[in-house]
Amino acid sequence: MLDFLGNLKRTHYCGELRAKDEGRDAIVMGWVHRRRDLGNLLFLDVRDRSGIVQVVFNKETQSEAHAKAEQARAEFVVAVEGRIVKRQKPNPELATGEIELIAKHLHILNTAKTPPFQIEDEINAAEETRLRYRYLDLRRPKPHRNLALRHKVVLEIRNAMDELGFVEVETPMLTRSTPEGARDYLIPSRIHHGQFYALPQSPQIFKQILMIAGLDRYFQIVKCFRDEDLRADRQPEFTQLDLEMSFPRQEDIFEVIEKVMVRVCAVAGIKAEAPFPQMQYKDAIRFYGSDKPDLRFGMELHDVSNCFSPEVRGKLQMDGHVFAFAVPGAAGYSRKKIDELTEKAKTLGARGLYTVKVTTDDIQSSLGKLVGIEFVAMIVALCDAKPGDLVVVVSAKEQIKGSEAAALIAGQLRVYLAEQLNLIDKSKWKFLWLTGFPLFEWSESDKRWVSAQHPFTGIVEEDLEKLEISPWEVRSKGYDLVLNGVELGSGSIRIHRQDVQERVFKALGLTEEQQRRRFGFFLDALTYGTPPHGGVALGLDRTVMLLAGEKSIREVIAFAKTTAAQDLMADSPSEVDPGQLDELGIALKARKKVAE
Ligand code: AMO
Repeated sequence: MLDFLGNLKRTHYCGELRAKDEGRDAIVMGWVHRRRDLGNLLFLDVRDRSGIVQVVFNKETQSEAHAKAEQARAEFVVAVEGRIVKRQKPNPELATGEIELIAKHLHILNTAKTPPFQIEDEINAAEETRLRYRYLDLRRPKPHRNLALRHKVVLEIRNAMDELGFVEVETPMLTRSTPEGARDYLIPSRIHHGQFYALPQSPQIFKQILMIAGLDRYFQIVKCFRDEDLRADRQPEFTQLDLEMSFPRQEDIFEVIEKVMVRVCAVAGIKAEAPFPQMQYKDAIRFYGSDKPDLRFGMELHDVSNCFSPEVRGKLQMDGHVFAFAVPGAAGYSRKKIDELTEKAKTLGARGLYTVKVTTDDIQSSLGKLVGIEFVAMIVALCDAKPGDLVVVVSAKEQIKGSEAAALIAGQLRVYLAEQLNLIDKSKWKFLWLTGFPLFEWSESDKRWVSAQHPFTGIVEEDLEKLEISPWEVRSKGYDLVLNGVELGSGSIRIHRQDVQERVFKALGLTEEQQRRRFGFFLDALTYGTPPHGGVALGLDRTVMLLAGEKSIREVIAFAKTTAAQDLMADSPSEVDPGQLDELGIALKARKKVAE
């Protein structure tokens, strides 16, 4: 028989009870975390959002409560009335470990099936099981901590933005496509058969229109939707801190974000220092082989192409530049590990990977025979390698990205080795602004120029003339914010003139007809007195992920989806009733039969 909650009122959260509460009566409510039956004494660990408290049931003094406790099982929902006493043997592992609750009454409010995994931080259940039973997964302390941190971060952002004069405005979810480089999620219209809304990939056009509307400083904590290949730091729906301001200089936008991020970090007990350093995109590639360099460790790349004569390059079938970097203290890296590294380099597209072990009195390298020991010594000197270091030299197989190919591969090996060898100081928080992006990138698959960020990104004034003549030379007014090697956000000073916006659309291969059809409303809006404006959007999930010390954004999203974009708990996407499709005027094509 289950008990009713009735008029019973909780007096304390389980995890809050301390030695100072000794002698008080308490009523706690929560879940049975664990049960230990020692005959005359029965212990229930009762858990709620705040933590765990040990409850003792004594057969001799409280036989009724004890009998009831015998029925309790893991994850049953209970209320306990009792008295707080000091434990004879304190448990230092537990925040409430100095006390325990001597039960007078136990109310069993609900039963529970045996959960598929233990409700504990250290679980080894498959992620699929965790996502399917998300309500159980979320009962663990860590998700509670992460969601509470997320809440505090959002609160701090809202307060900071308010103090900085920004107004939060909601923009529509049922809208039309905004290009951010992914596929749209489409919503069919019931009233207008054959027509579709798109869920926003970002509020980009709307926030720009809010600037035309004179809002001056807009922000929003907003859901965005993108149908793209998912990874640990990508979800099909995710949240941005999105903002836009009128008449800004780039540094004004940086200053706003720096103020907000310093406050957000403080919420997580992290001290971040502003202003954040800035780096040109080309330097990030050149020195770190990455557009999101992790500055918590050195190991910068060095162009050692000059150490290879044309003859040697021919013999080694080298293409493009050759890059090298020193790995501190890794001269003892084993043969097997170096073989693994070489394999990894090959899968990344390297032509060759060579290593140099630098010891106090010697330089050992497979390169010696190929290029001559004096050139190996030159590479070591260029990398500023010290005795005890390992120098890694990378050449590219083909020109993946022009002359940068070897740098990009070396950049990935740099991070891989730093992680493997524990060379990253996890106590450091290294923000970085990246600037100086090109406006366009060549898309090999589409055989045309595409926006490096999005088509509303402003253009460095002196480069306007190159738009039609040499688009690859046009520099954008875009920037990215990077934290510890993760791209947190991106933004730009925008195009605010209609003629320039049309020229960019044209350079992207959009005909006038296509421009009108897709962006007519926006091009029109631009003609009614658009102020210069700019902004940025930060990934909220990624920010909280880093602050919480997590490796995946799924750990900071309550109801996350799998990498196949499924919600395993709610079982979506799912089929719908034929009647619903009918109303929408949709007929499904015969689905491919899945092989049995
Ligand atoms: P961008 O597309 O770079 O810029 O997105 C900004 C930031 O949003 C986060 N983000 C994601 N987080 C989780 N899952 C995803 N699938 C995902 N995609 C993006 C990243 C990223 O840096 N409208 C522009 C911003 C602007 O120009 O103001 C935009 O959306 O942290």
